[in-house]
Amino acid sequence: MIKVDNEISLHPATLSDADEMYALVDANRKHLGRWLPWVESLRSVGDERRWLRQRAGMDASSDEEAWLIRYQGATVGAIGLIYDAPNNGAEVGYWLTEATQGHGIVTRSCRTLLGYAFMVRSVHRLQLRAASENVRSVAVAERLGFTFEGVQREALYTAKGYQDAKVYSMLVSEWEQRTD
Ligand SMILES: CC(C)(COP(=O)(O)OP(=O)(O)OC[C@H]1O[C@@H](n2cnc3c(N)ncnc32)[C@H](O)[C@@H]1OP(=O)(O)O)[C@@H](O)C(=O)NCCC(=O)NCCS
Repeated sequence: MIKVDNEISLHPATLSDADEMYALVDANRKHLGRWLPWVESLRSVGDERRWLRQRAGMDASSDEEAWLIRYQGATVGAIGLIYDAPNNGAEVGYWLTEATQGHGIVTRSCRTLLGYAFMVRSVHRLQLRAASENVRSVAVAERLGFTFEGVQREALYTAKGYQDAKVYSMLVSEWEQRTD
């Protein structure tokens, strides 16, 4: 468990979370499917279990980690890191239920996860990609002080078809010099 603050904690996702996670995604299918490519193909608790099984068996040498986000005691979303080990890189991804947006939950969770990625996992460059039209996710990147690098054309395939992706990054040296 990683404590973010008095309201938020991050819990490594395990197989026993499958029912809860699937129910959250299913109840927020339209909200999430607009931006996240994997939502369309996640169609049952069995699919959720298969996804979690890959992560539940992971150890320190694995290339992906996922955490449930708990806010005021309830699970409200998830956040994860996909590692690019040869380059000491990682990409962060996240989602929240529609109803729990607007409280800074993901910004606060990401800020804590940056420390974990840079200090515990020795990441050199952390990447964040968001669909260009995903105003809320782009705002998270900018609020956290990520640097905009450019646009990947039609790089994301979502319920709305192919979408351009804005690429942001933060280097460990920038994180060390942060002022917030
Ligand atoms: C992307 C997503 C996680 C952003 O959610 P969000 O609630 O806007 O982001 P945060 O949790 O960081 O909250 C920021 C909001 O809380 C407010 N806030 C309140 N307290 C805050 C605090 N302590 N710190 C930061 N922001 C705070 C901010 O002002 C902002 O409000 P605004 O939208 O009115 O400007 C959410 O929209 C989502 O899940 N979308 C669907 C899936 C998705 O797109 N995932 C990302 C793919 S790249």
